[in-house]
Amino acid sequence: MTNTLDPELAGSQNPDALPDIDIGRRRLLVAATGAVGGAGLAAASIPFVASMNPSERARARGAPVDVDFAKLGPGEQVTFEWRGKPVWILRRTEAMLKALENPGHLVKLADSDSKVKSQQPAYARNAFRSLKPEYLVLVPICTHLGCVPTFRPDVAPADLGPDWPGGYFCPCHGSKFDFAGRVYRNVPAPTNLVVPPHKYVTDTRVSIGEDTR
Ligand code: FES
Repeated sequence: MTNTLDPELAGSQNPDALPDIDIGRRRLLVAATGAVGGAGLAAASIPFVASMNPSERARARGAPVDVDFAKLGPGEQVTFEWRGKPVWILRRTEAMLKALENPGHLVKLADSDSKVKSQQPAYARNAFRSLKPEYLVLVPICTHLGCVPTFRPDVAPADLGPDWPGGYFCPCHGSKFDFAGRVYRNVPAPTNLVVPPHKYVTDTRVSIGEDTR
């Protein structure tokens, strides 16, 4: 059975709107989604949490979740819940995609070719770790100790240095990931972020938890 999350039910940044995520992760998730707006950046990370009653939530823990992301603009990211975990969909811009293929960037990554098979389905073992280059579907749980990284699309910010091309930064112990969820070398996180099983139902609708065949 598939549970459909209606984008009109988008939640606020209130941690209480995330009932199935533990308190520490709720706070980190809220921090992650709030950081971009606070920085006044053009790109945005949009909290997107459906309202579900307890029985619906129980089904959602195991069932695929159907998400409509038609309203997502370039550079925007949406958050929703699947099996009690946050999942992000990022609509990447042309500049983001170009940066992911920059040879100078690739040599900084620990697993640029997604060789660790446990971190993505076979159909996401490609340059963008996705079925469609424009859209990234990701479980944003740091592979070090489980914090939720922050969305940092700002290029060359003071705290991340002049070479930062945009990506995800885990504030817990400083791990860095790019906009394909690939981990940098020499950070605490050992592997890339997880790409969950998913398939497109329509061009702007994706089912998380179901594999593309
Ligand atoms: S949990 Fe992310 S760096 Fe430690």
